[in-house]
Amino acid sequence: MARRIIIDTDPGQDDAVAILLALSSPQDVEVLGITAVAGNVPLALTARNARIICELAGKPETPVFAGCDAPLGRPLVTAEHVHGKTGLDGPVLPEPTMPLQDRHAVDFLIDTLRSEPGGSVTLCPLGPLTNIATAFLRAPDIVSRVEGIVLMGGAYFEVGNITPTAEFNIYVDPEAADIVFRSGVPLTVMPLDVTHKALVTKERNDAFRAIGTPVGEAVAQMTEFFERFDKEKYGSLGAPLHDPCVTAWLLKPELFTGRHINVEIETKSPLTLGMTVADWWGVTSRPANATFMGGIDADGFFALLTERLARL
Ligand code: BDR
Ligand code: CA
Repeated sequence: MARRIIIDTDPGQDDAVAILLALSSPQDVEVLGITAVAGNVPLALTARNARIICELAGKPETPVFAGCDAPLGRPLVTAEHVHGKTGLDGPVLPEPTMPLQDRHAVDFLIDTLRSEPGGSVTLCPLGPLTNIATAFLRAPDIVSRVEGIVLMGGAYFEVGNITPTAEFNIYVDPEAADIVFRSGVPLTVMPLDVTHKALVTKERNDAFRAIGTPVGEAVAQMTEFFERFDKEKYGSLGAPLHDPCVTAWLLKPELFTGRHINVEIETKSPLTLGMTVADWWGVTSRPANATFMGGIDADGFFALLTERLARL
């Protein structure tokens, strides 16, 4: 049976590829809805971009909800320097015509988790954790009904990308991340340690383009735009496909290796705000709360992506 998921996202070119991968594989994952959050760009743009991607996938019936427009207790930090002004710079894609749902994303999360059987819905956050934490704060009864959370965020060996010690999604809303990491819901975490190994080389991008469809061409153009930041900053081969690691894990978990460890979030120190303090080496007695990934079969990951994107 297909795993039932809600994708919580701030598209973002890499979010877009993650969404496309999920929508390409209905026999494996059923996308109950997509909830947009402010992150890479402000909420109006992430809610727009999510719908552009559903239409590109040929799935305009996917319900898209707009959620929180700012972190729980801080001003929003955005990442136009990575993703461009629209968040989805690169390909020229039409404005969406499918509607945004009337309901707030947080209400959708709460209603769905209450109405579906307990333990039957997995949450897949690809951006700051504001929507998820707000739902947990407002409706604590839903927490134990979540099957699991598979998220992109944090770093241990790679430390940080937005500050020297913090990864963007966690840094933008550390209080929200803290709520999620303390929630007791089983967590599967894709940190930079993994996503910086999922690099789009020229050959891998040529393979996307060679699919020969609008989806293949759009993905190739998105990663071409998005790669300039990481090439300049890290001297890396190409764009890291951060968020698709989440949806790839749902389809083929054997592509990833990690450790079940304690991970806590720094919410106070100005120097290390948003750091994921991961007890990778087991030097504390703090209880494990997350499966924190460290390794990826990158060739297998790109083979899966190319094969599945070709289905759209
Ligand atoms: C994360 O931040 C965003 O820029 C990407 O979409 C990804 O979710 C990587 O740090
Ligand atoms: Ca994202």
